[in-house]
Amino acid sequence: MSLPVYFAPLQGYTDAVYRAAHASLFGGVEAYYMPFVRLEKEELRRKDLRDIEPEANRGVAVVPQLIASLPDELCRLVDGIAACGYRRIDINLGCPFPLLARRHKGSGILPYPDEVERLLCPLERYGDIDFSVKMRLGWECPDESLRLLPILEGGPVRQITLHARLGRQQYKGNPDIDSFARFYEACHLPLVYNGDLVAVEEMVAIEARFPRLAGLMVGRGLLARPWLAEAYAYGGDPGPLRYERVARLHEQVFTGYARVLQGAHQLLARMAAFWEYLLPDVDKRMKKRVLKARSPEAYTEAVRALFFSLQEKG
Ligand SMILES: Cc1cc2nc3c(=O)[nH]c(=O)nc-3n(C[C@H](O)[C@H](O)[C@H](O)COP(=O)(O)O)c2cc1C
Repeated sequence: MSLPVYFAPLQGYTDAVYRAAHASLFGGVEAYYMPFVRLEKEELRRKDLRDIEPEANRGVAVVPQLIASLPDELCRLVDGIAACGYRRIDINLGCPFPLLARRHKGSGILPYPDEVERLLCPLERYGDIDFSVKMRLGWECPDESLRLLPILEGGPVRQITLHARLGRQQYKGNPDIDSFARFYEACHLPLVYNGDLVAVEEMVAIEARFPRLAGLMVGRGLLARPWLAEAYAYGGDPGPLRYERVARLHEQVFTGYARVLQGAHQLLARMAAFWEYLLPDVDKRMKKRVLKARSPEAYTEAVRALFFSLQEKG
């Protein structure tokens, strides 16, 4: 039996439009973690709320995520998310962006066990909500996550997703599997592996090395090959039809953004992000034509030519 696969939250990529389109066309994803919600001028950002509102996520298994460094901030975010009807919330202790990390948010809080303890303390009040944490090995060194384990295990956190990198690495270098293994050995909570899974064989290898895992979380690998979770969960070759389904994914995402974004410039910029990771093996010139298109007409023509060539090749 394969492990549950979670779609990682990717700010700017896996928004409600993308999640709905992906979930309607590809299987194998247990739940989509949503990009984090944060406070701005003491309020939940309207843009974030629009993305997590149940109406925008109907029929899709989603887990909202928040980022905070102070208990009050955390409570306001939990209250806001719970008011949307959610009973599962993930807490981001992994974001490496320097602007947030400097304020001890995301992986910036990992070197400070006292602050993590204070931050998570109010979770006890929310008996009807299942909390999970998504974190990195540390900011500066992997011992930081090990030092946090007693705090995480002592509270109401029900599951941990561990991205096997340090915050200061950003996305550089390889995941540190040996440090992940040390955390895995010490951890008594259900643990999900995250970091650089891009092929079924790699997912199978992680599952074999860590048989007590509660799941695998995949982000950029799924943006690149939207059928990856399905191929892992159900086995078999995704076959030539996969490109037809990716073309339909594109169609749904394009139509979805055309509905909510203002003007061709915004739409094309958003679609450029869609293509950033998608189908890395595709002919580079064809992809460049898609990315360089300056009008919706040129864009549509370049996309049509790209999918035509893929379906020709099979
Ligand atoms: C552009 C981008 C945006 C991200 N946004 C979030 C986010 O909102 N919340 C979060 O927990 N992680 C976020 N991450 C981290 C991913 O969820 C994931 O942990 C990381 O990409 C490693 O997994 P992968 O190699 O499977 O992509 C983001 C990563 C990228 C590249």
